Amino acid sequence: MNSEIYEKPIIKKLQTGFMNKFGTGVFKHIRRDIDGVAVEELAEQYGSPLFVFSEKELRKSYRKLYNSFSNRYPNVLFGWSYKTNYLDAICSILHQEGAIAEVVSEFEYKKAKRLGINGRNIIYNGPFKSMQSLEEAAEDGAMINIDHFEEIQDLEDVAKKLNKKIKVGIRINMDTGIVPQWSRFGFNLESGQALDAVKRISYGGHLILSGLHCHIGTFILEPSAYAQEVKKMVDFAYKIEDKFSYKIEYLDIGGGFPSKNRLKGVYLPPEVVVPAIDEFAEAVCDTLLESLKPNDFPKLILETGRAIVDTTGYLITTVHAIKRLPDGTRAYVIDAGVNSLFTSFWYKFNIEMDREVSGTAEPSMINGPLCMNIDVIDESVNLPPLERGMKLIISPVGAYNVTQWMQFITYRPAVCMISEDGEAQLIRKKEDINNIIEQEILPERYKFDK
Ligand SMILES: Cc1ncc(COP(=O)(O)O)c(C=O)c1O
Repeated sequence: MNSEIYEKPIIKKLQTGFMNKFGTGVFKHIRRDIDGVAVEELAEQYGSPLFVFSEKELRKSYRKLYNSFSNRYPNVLFGWSYKTNYLDAICSILHQEGAIAEVVSEFEYKKAKRLGINGRNIIYNGPFKSMQSLEEAAEDGAMINIDHFEEIQDLEDVAKKLNKKIKVGIRINMDTGIVPQWSRFGFNLESGQALDAVKRISYGGHLILSGLHCHIGTFILEPSAYAQEVKKMVDFAYKIEDKFSYKIEYLDIGGGFPSKNRLKGVYLPPEVVVPAIDEFAEAVCDTLLESLKPNDFPKLILETGRAIVDTTGYLITTVHAIKRLPDGTRAYVIDAGVNSLFTSFWYKFNIEMDREVSGTAEPSMINGPLCMNIDVIDESVNLPPLERGMKLIISPVGAYNVTQWMQFITYRPAVCMISEDGEAQLIRKKEDINNIIEQEILPERYKFDK
């Protein structure tokens, strides 16, 4: 006989949401499918937790961004920011759409090449580029953006070794009104350091400066910051062209546009807080057209990451346990935690249920499976009484999770893609113990009697 679980009674004031003309608010966030494929079916086929990406949304999102800029400026190129999401399937779709690759490490450089990207179509950024990878990138003709003075020296050594002049860009940083200012990367503009870098390159004679790169930060909500960035980049480019015999062929303005995600502590929804992509495109392109000389259209490169991919990813999870904490808070343990969802530290996600549930909604805590106090996906989300085995669908999770996830305490989950014609395909297998132990070595002397 099935007996109901006894729960000790408590008295707790429930905040069930604001009253509207129909009465009190009811939690109604139900998602039964992703792009037409049933959540239940996906979890049955590939297990839970499961990351799910939508090809349709990804292509749509890319095209929207690309069109916003290319409708306003004639020479636009997108470099897909690998660190935002470097799953082969995601990168391939974006390369099919016309994006080149933007990488920030030797590993990412190799991953892009392995996928079939020609080195000429790789933008190589980052503060730590090994000598070996610099040599490879220089031979390939990649777009290398120099981060510091040591790298100028390194590339000069590579140029001497290869006996050729190498085209390079420099990364600059600047004040665009964004706080905190990202000043750790590249050469500072206002202090004169960026000009010193150009002088240094010119003096060395082994490198040809052909581009400027800048990335002002991430989740930037101010289109006007980009207008400032672009204006300063154009002015600096002309200053370089006037003083040195270089032609600046590209202005790479980095990434940083916000996605329609909700930052923790921000009360208003993303639809209200996050400016439309057209506002950013207008700020960038209008400033470019106003500041550039007639008939001068250097390539405008964008390395947009999260604004393209974030809303195209979901995480299907399963309710594993239901608790009542001593202070009366309802808490749930689900099968995915901060190990899989790195972005939960700063986002308050949408949490949807796979079915209708009756009962009064109350502020509930969602915890992951880790035996760690910090494993909290949401401190307080208004939910009706969930049942064990139910699925919760968390979104948007497409950016910076399937790259920053941790193999900690448990395995990393599988990832699948729903194709444009509604077919679900695995794009990354769930890890198992072999993936983890195959890297380990147990020296003979540490073996023990069993
Ligand atoms: C150099 C560079 N380009 C592009 C990006 C992508 O940024 P976002 O995802 O904010 O668009 C980053 C992220 O930090 C970056 O450092």
